[in-house]
Amino acid sequence: MLQVENINTFYDLSHVLHDVSLTVAEGEAVAFLGRNGAGKTTTLKTIMGLLTPRGGKITMNGTDLTEAQAHTVSLNGITLVPEDRQIFTNLTVFENLKISRLPVDGAKHLDDHLDWIFSLFPRLKERINNKGNQLSGGEQQMLTMARGLGTEPRLMLVDEPTEGLMPAYVETIHNVLVEIQKKGIALLLVEQNFRMALTISKRAYLIEKGVIRWEGASSDLLEDQETRMRYLGV
Ligand SMILES: Nc1ncnc2c1ncn2[C@@H]1O[C@H](COP(=O)(O)OP(=O)(O)O)[C@@H](O)[C@H]1O
Ligand SMILES: [Mg+2]
Repeated sequence: MLQVENINTFYDLSHVLHDVSLTVAEGEAVAFLGRNGAGKTTTLKTIMGLLTPRGGKITMNGTDLTEAQAHTVSLNGITLVPEDRQIFTNLTVFENLKISRLPVDGAKHLDDHLDWIFSLFPRLKERINNKGNQLSGGEQQMLTMARGLGTEPRLMLVDEPTEGLMPAYVETIHNVLVEIQKKGIALLLVEQNFRMALTISKRAYLIEKGVIRWEGASSDLLEDQETRMRYLGV
């Protein structure tokens, strides 16, 4: 489904990604792990079309998205759940979700969509008339993910969804990610909580200083403390 081949991404003259290659198959959950500053967010932003690689190739189901802008990438079934939780804080949960449906069908079939969203996030239903700024960090993260599902993606790029959350919410987000994958949506998951990421995923990549250093089965990495120490420090 998603194929990333030898992409190189720069911030001005600073060369951050070096020949990064990875794949995500239909419905697959893949962990993408590495230390702070390794290039995880840059990789997700490059796939999403927020940064353009110099060289390399990105395709989704055969469609070339290497130079595509974010809205085109989105139309091709990819969504990014960013680490900085993008919701409209002065709008209600309902309004936030409605806006996420505008590009799809002008929010015409909102009720059906909301039934699905609230089956994944019952807590958001309870908060439907609350404004974004009245939500806890965990609820804001749920709303960010729910908004990401507005475009009915085939692949969700999830950037550190549990960062800064209380342990109780970490569990909730973990369960929601499992549910999303059960619905057939593939995940490329960046997460500092490596144990959680490796439990959800079947395969994993380790990136260090913009270079993919390891790829393999998540179960192998769970047992391979030496590799984890080398690239994650845990
Ligand atoms: N907007 C930017 N301008 C310049 N350098 C950046 C920018 N964003 C990130 N970087 C640098 O790119 C490298 C990779 O960053 P990032 O992809 O955010 O890492 P990660 O998400 O793995 O923590 C780091 O060295 C970081 O300092
Ligand atoms: Mg990051």
